[in-house]
Amino acid sequence: MSPTTTIASVPALAEVEREAKGCTRCPLAQGRTQVVFGVGSSSADLMFVGEAPGQQEDLQGEPFVGRSGQLLDRMVLEEMGLTRDRFYIANTVKCRPPGNRDPQPVEIAACHPWLETQVDLIDPKVVVTLGNFAAKLLLGTTEGITRLRGRAYPYRGGVLVPTFHPAAILRGGGDLAAQMRADLVRAKQYLTGDGERP
Ligand code: URA
Repeated sequence: MSPTTTIASVPALAEVEREAKGCTRCPLAQGRTQVVFGVGSSSADLMFVGEAPGQQEDLQGEPFVGRSGQLLDRMVLEEMGLTRDRFYIANTVKCRPPGNRDPQPVEIAACHPWLETQVDLIDPKVVVTLGNFAAKLLLGTTEGITRLRGRAYPYRGGVLVPTFHPAAILRGGGDLAAQMRADLVRAKQYLTGDGERP
């Protein structure tokens, strides 16, 4: 990527983030401490998309800073050799649903333009979705994650690799963890240009 492209993309994403911080498109705005827009490199080749902020994320303003995030960071480091400064991470819904309930369809739809703008500006080679909500939204399907995972899909000029949400690994243990690790290895192959075109 040329220096001009890098410099141009940083203010654009920061500007969108500033706008998003005042978002009142859905009722989640009323209960939030702050909008959890996303963090990481704005020129990253890799982007993770989770579900919604939890309590810690709502307080700290950063996605995946709780137990799920710690597990994700560890698995990404072990399977892909990457730390947070090398990717971008955001959620399907940018404000915490009360009591950590599932995000509602109307909230997901209201927030979708923010996510689409993030993907368009960052323009990653590989998007890894974590859990059902992000995979279903971005792939436009009602199919569940267990059926969707295990392969890559074309997505906005790059590829999308669906995998489990790390919270499912914390609940479900070994077998799911092994599948998630395999998905991360698959994502790495696409990052390095070794993956077959889906
Ligand atoms: N789970 C998510 O999906 N996103 C977060 O930011 C934290 C937990």
